[in-house]
Amino acid sequence: MRVGVAGVGRIGVHHAETLRSLAAVESIVVADVDAGRAAATAERLGAEVLADPAALFAAGLDALVIAAATDAHADLLIAAVQAGIPVFCEKPVAPDVDATIRAVKEISAHDVPVQIGFQRRFDSGYTAAKAAIAGGRLGWLHTVRATTLDPAPPPAAYVASSGGIFRDCGVHDFDIIRWVTGREVEQVYVVGGNQGESFFLDAGDVDTAACLLRIEGGTLAVVSLTRYNGAGYDVRLEALGSAGSISVGLDDGLPLRSAEAGVAFPAGPAYPGFLERFRDAYTAELAAFVDVAAGRAESACTVQDALEAFYIAEACALSLARGRPVLLAEVRR
Ligand SMILES: NC(=O)c1ccc[n+]([C@@H]2O[C@H](COP(=O)([O-])OP(=O)(O)OC[C@H]3O[C@@H](n4cnc5c(N)ncnc54)[C@H](O)[C@@H]3O)[C@@H](O)[C@H]2O)c1
Repeated sequence: MRVGVAGVGRIGVHHAETLRSLAAVESIVVADVDAGRAAATAERLGAEVLADPAALFAAGLDALVIAAATDAHADLLIAAVQAGIPVFCEKPVAPDVDATIRAVKEISAHDVPVQIGFQRRFDSGYTAAKAAIAGGRLGWLHTVRATTLDPAPPPAAYVASSGGIFRDCGVHDFDIIRWVTGREVEQVYVVGGNQGESFFLDAGDVDTAACLLRIEGGTLAVVSLTRYNGAGYDVRLEALGSAGSISVGLDDGLPLRSAEAGVAFPAGPAYPGFLERFRDAYTAELAAFVDVAAGRAESACTVQDALEAFYIAEACALSLARGRPVLLAEVRR
């Protein structure tokens, strides 16, 4: 299989390395608007390089991985499906609802497989939590707690084109809460904080947020987000029910330390970032995508799933701006 990679920044390079390790992938073609970065990556990985990302659509690809900046996703995604190329696209599909819906409409007009990059769906812990809930082992869920605590902020330029903390970061939690519980979010209420770099405020963003979600059936979810968790990369989910509870991410890489005397857990070094925390999940999602592109499997994360998670992010942004609870019905189109 000949696979293209559009955008070779932090995650694009990692995806290209992962693709290189998959038996079904014979050759990799990279392109980036930063031509020098693309050329250096291609040389290091033994990949082909194209001078212009637009050339990817006429490069005889069997599949395309989009890992460019968020504001480039929708156009690349639409060009790929129009060219009949199966496509994996990093989350989110776009920085706003209008562009996301434009992509959804175009994709639904073509019979071309699309998988969106919510890698937590391929993580063994989240998969086990989903099975525990679906199997009734936790009883009825009263509370879900989800955290995405980044150790340090991304660059200012990334923040400016990211769509903000809910669409860029919290969207992973919103997707996985839907996936793990099998239920839709009905209402959100959000508060935010800015004690860090001023570029968050300049971009109309916050560096920390707490989101309270009401899920259909009455379960409550609390989503905690920050760009400043100095102890390390802390991404977890707790599902707590009338008959039992389960925790995802409660392993030796957890950055949290106990205040209790004599408690050694967690014993290992804290996860420094997303690449270490989700290494296996990133590999599993691209292996799954190769199967999707080859027609051997259905997409495990559709663009419609991405739109639903994005609506939750949109509702959170509106709640923060207005300082009031927001019903999903207010933002859903
Ligand atoms: N699933 C995850 O865990 C995860 C983790 C990190 C990033 N991401 C997502 O991946 C995307 C990239 O994030 P990153 O951290 O690698 O950003 P980055 O800024 O490190 O890299 C983005 C790259 O895209 C390139 N680019 C911009 N426009 C382009 C275009 N039109 N065509 C080709 N290349 C283009 C830039 O030059 C840069 O090299 C973002 O959408 C982000 O939300 C997902």
